[in-house]
Amino acid sequence: MAWMRRGVGLVTVAALGLAGCGADLEPEPERTPAGAPSPTAGRQFAPGAAGVGDAYFPSYGNGGYDVGRYAVKVRYDPAADRLTGTATVQATATADLSAFHLDLAGLTVREVTVDGAPARHAREADELVVTPAAGLAAGNGFTAEISYEGRPEPLRTEVLGEGGWLHTDDGAIALGQPESASTWFPVNDHPSDKATYDIEITVPKGLTAVSNGVPKGRSDAGGWTTWKWSEAAPMASYLSTVVIGDYRVTTGEHKGRPVFSAVSSTLGKGAADASMARTTEVADYLESVFGPYPFAAYGGVVVADDRIRYALETQSRPVYGAGFFRGGENTGVVAHELAHQWFGNSVSLAKWQDIWLNEGLATYAEWLWAEHRGTGTAQAAFDGRYAVSSSRVWQTPPAEPGRANLFSESVYQRGGMTVHALRVAVGDPAFFRILKTWAAEKRNANATTAEFVALAERVSGKQLDSLFDAWLRGTDRPPAPKRL
Ligand code: TRP
Ligand code: ZN
Repeated sequence: MAWMRRGVGLVTVAALGLAGCGADLEPEPERTPAGAPSPTAGRQFAPGAAGVGDAYFPSYGNGGYDVGRYAVKVRYDPAADRLTGTATVQATATADLSAFHLDLAGLTVREVTVDGAPARHAREADELVVTPAAGLAAGNGFTAEISYEGRPEPLRTEVLGEGGWLHTDDGAIALGQPESASTWFPVNDHPSDKATYDIEITVPKGLTAVSNGVPKGRSDAGGWTTWKWSEAAPMASYLSTVVIGDYRVTTGEHKGRPVFSAVSSTLGKGAADASMARTTEVADYLESVFGPYPFAAYGGVVVADDRIRYALETQSRPVYGAGFFRGGENTGVVAHELAHQWFGNSVSLAKWQDIWLNEGLATYAEWLWAEHRGTGTAQAAFDGRYAVSSSRVWQTPPAEPGRANLFSESVYQRGGMTVHALRVAVGDPAFFRILKTWAAEKRNANATTAEFVALAERVSGKQLDSLFDAWLRGTDRPPAPKRL
């Protein structure tokens, strides 16, 4: 799998198209029934910001509200490459809002309602600006319903690979990190705003439509099949996925949870199927080192489209490019993507700069899995990389990689080496307590590098700032790890 992570052609994100912040929108006067005292009298209602303030991706997400649940219903006709959808966004205002943004790339919005009343809507680049009939008071819940349609297009601002909705030979694949969701539904597209999801996908009868979480059944009507999926644990938007096409589906149950895997029918039955079949075995091993599996379903999807040359840890059901299995069964990549279910998905980033927290721990999980299987120790994996890593790796601090190096070898391999240096410094009992405590305390939450360092110090009782400084922020090769 390392072959996919090394030497990926990294595209520098030249222009992120910083969206306007809706300053041209006048705050609407609040309306209340005649004679009723206004609960919002005297308050200043203003438009929510067009981004959450991520230093690397200023236009991602939006300000002024927090989403609790998305219900997304899409119908996709692969022959026409057309999508029609309705998204119900249940949110709570965190500021007094006269208007708010959602991220939406391409597509045409037909209608927006807020709490059942028609709302004005406008587009500014990849932003949808909604102006409800009445202001939304901080602390209050509201429900926005958006109907939309069009020909979905992938995003061109992604850092690695193509992000977003891809039309394939037999259907579509919606996938990508750090963004993809806004190409198929209106969303607060930043991992700091996690929400639950109910997703329904209607496709021509005969095609499979896979998404996140627990399968909730399917129904046929008039030559179409609707597939229902539910992710009841909070999920970051980039972890949402839809895969439509001709797939070989395997279902089952493990530890009382549904298992649903799918492999593209264009692949002969073989290594991809065998690797997916080992998903629960790998998850059980990871559970022994990270603590309880965090989600209500298991599975994986193997896609055959050439453009998907990577795997992504889409929640409860990672998506793998077929290339990972060309050389035979590959449980290393399965261990990597499943490790993200704990680190990345359950414990999520608060800002993209902290990506090493996801990738360093997932890389280390591959080393732990190899150690567990007896195919090589984590120490040997560390030693190999420590010896051969290029000056680029040592010059790029994993905790300050810069936007263009978000998925670089420094983040993955030096990130993994950082975790190993921690293990050597504190010893195995404290190290595994740190991993389990991190997963437990930050379950379903967002977390930062500073919090990880603080927790590692608290659990181990050791001062670790110089170790983490050297490994995460230094621009030279750190000294070989030693027991503190
Ligand atoms: N996070 C993915 C992994 O480590 C790799 C990845 C980075 C990716 N950027 C992506 C996958 C974009 C899909 C699309 O497994
Ligand atoms: Zn990863």
